[in-house]
Amino acid sequence: MDVLRWEKRQLLLLDQTLLPHRIEYLTCTHYRDVAEAISLLQVRGAPAIGIAAAYGYALAALNYQEGKGGTLEDYLKKAAEELGDTRPTAVNLHWALEQMNRVYQTVKDKALDEVREYLLEAAKGIHTDELRLEERIAEFGSSLIPKGARILTYCNTGALATAGWGTALGIVRTAHEQGKEVKVYVSETRPVLQGARLTAWELHQAGIPYKLITDNMAGYLFRQNKVDLVLVGADRIAANGDFANKIGTYNLAVLAGFHNCPFYVAAPSSTIDLDIDTGEEIPIEMRDPQEVRMVGSQLITIEGCPVLNPSFDVTPHQLVTAIITEKGIIKPPYDLVKIFTKEGVSR
Ligand code: MRU
Repeated sequence: MDVLRWEKRQLLLLDQTLLPHRIEYLTCTHYRDVAEAISLLQVRGAPAIGIAAAYGYALAALNYQEGKGGTLEDYLKKAAEELGDTRPTAVNLHWALEQMNRVYQTVKDKALDEVREYLLEAAKGIHTDELRLEERIAEFGSSLIPKGARILTYCNTGALATAGWGTALGIVRTAHEQGKEVKVYVSETRPVLQGARLTAWELHQAGIPYKLITDNMAGYLFRQNKVDLVLVGADRIAANGDFANKIGTYNLAVLAGFHNCPFYVAAPSSTIDLDIDTGEEIPIEMRDPQEVRMVGSQLITIEGCPVLNPSFDVTPHQLVTAIITEKGIIKPPYDLVKIFTKEGVSR
C-alpha cells in the first residue's frame, strides 16, 4: 500500500490519523494541502514528510499562475517557507526543500512547463532514492540482529513513516524475511499513539510477532531481561551523534544504558544535520495541548488542564551503541562530518 503516490497532477497521501481503523487517501492539489497534511500528522515520520514536502514544492510550480503578479521564484520561495514551517524538528523536511530549490536554480531559465517537469522528476527522484537507501539501511541493520532477538521499538519507523520500507522497522522487516524469528515489543507512544495505531498495524500486516505495551512498561521488560536490543529511528542527528526522536526515546536509551542493552538508531543521511554540532541545537516541536488531554476523541482529564507537549526529545550520543545508515554501521566515536557531506544523499 502506497503511503504517498503521485497521480494525475495530484499527490495522494494515506491519511495516517485514521489508521488503523480506516484506509483513506487525501488528495493534495495545492502545496497548502500538503503543508496542512504535514501539520496535522496525516503524513508523518521524518523521511515521509521530506518526500511529501518535495512533492509539495513540485505542486507549487503547478499552482503558480503566470502573469498574476510575482515571479515563479518568489512563489516557490513562499511555498518552501510555508512547507518548511510546518514541523521544525525533522531535518529531512528542510533537506528535501533545499534539494528542490537547488534543482530549481539549475533549470529556472527554461520554459515554465519544462521547469514544472524537472521539479516533478526531482521530487520523484527523492522518493525513489530514499526507498533505495532504506533497503540498504535494512541490510546493514539486519546484520546486527541475532536470531530470535526480542526487539523493543518506539513510535513508527516503518513504511508509513518513510519512502515505503522503513528505517528501524525496515530492519525488523528484513530480519524477519531473512528468517531471524524476531519478536517485537511495540511501545504505544503517547500522546499520538504511533506505536499502537501504526507500528502494531504494520507488524500485523507483515506477520511479524509482536506485543503492544504501554510506555511505562518498558522498565519492567528490562528488569525481566526480556529485551535484547532497542531499535529506533531519528528526526535529526547532530554531527556528534546526539539525535532527536519521538518524545520518550531518551527514557528508553537511559534504561537500555543502565541494563547494558544495545541501543541502535537507524536513519538515512537526509536525517543528518551537519550544520549543528550537538543535540542542544535541535529545535523541539511543541504541539497542541489537546493531544495530551485526549485519547482519541475522549477527554481523559479536566477540560483546559495545563499541559506540556514536546513532541521530541534528544538522546545524547553516549547512549547510542551504533547509528545505522545507508553508508553502513557507524560506531563511536561519532564524527559524522567525516562520513557525510552537507548535500546528504549520494546518488
Ligand atoms: O511525530 P512523528 O510521528 O512524525 O514522529 C516520528 C518519529 O519520531 C520517528 O521515530 C522518526 O521520524 C523516524 S521515522 C523513520
